[in-house]
Amino acid sequence: MVYRPTLPPDRVEDLRRWHEHAYRDLAAAGERRLDYLGLDLVVPPGVFAPTPTSDLLGRAVVAEVRSGERVLDMGTGSGVNALLAARAGASVLGVDVNPVPVEAAEANAVRNGVRATFRVSDVFAQVNGCFDLVVIDRPSAGSPHVTWRRRR
Ligand SMILES: C[S@@+](CC[C@H](N)C(=O)[O-])C[C@H]1O[C@@H](n2cnc3c(N)ncnc32)[C@H](O)[C@@H]1O
Repeated sequence: MVYRPTLPPDRVEDLRRWHEHAYRDLAAAGERRLDYLGLDLVVPPGVFAPTPTSDLLGRAVVAEVRSGERVLDMGTGSGVNALLAARAGASVLGVDVNPVPVEAAEANAVRNGVRATFRVSDVFAQVNGCFDLVVIDRPSAGSPHVTWRRRR
């Protein structure tokens, strides 16, 4: 299948520049350890840590997720939202295109005594099944975070 971008070329270029800048900063940041909504997270270099803006998403996950739900955390990073959902009793799959965050998320799950499944996947390439809630803090310059929920 041929990939055809749906964004105009100048927007694609803006996003590419934003990515390069963001990942350069992340690589330079070194390992971070933080206490976030009661989770003890270790975030290696090159992996996104929760920020003041992503805090809105973390709090939405805590408010939204019910025990027994199936949750997909797309672009899981440190695993933060997957772990918040799993802590609430959901059955959780967290995926990331980059293996470094996947390893970090697995280690953070063990560190916090929470069970969730993590795997490398380019968006939905390695994702099967149905989910009650999809959480994504997508990597983009200044766009809002999103959650999608099936109708209850
Ligand atoms: C802004 S970070 C969010 C990390 C985490 N969810 C959080 O809230 O802290 C976006 C994440 O999406 C991942 N990502 C980027 N492109 C992806 C793709 N095509 N498929 C899956 N994950 C992707 C990145 O590696 C990164 O970990």
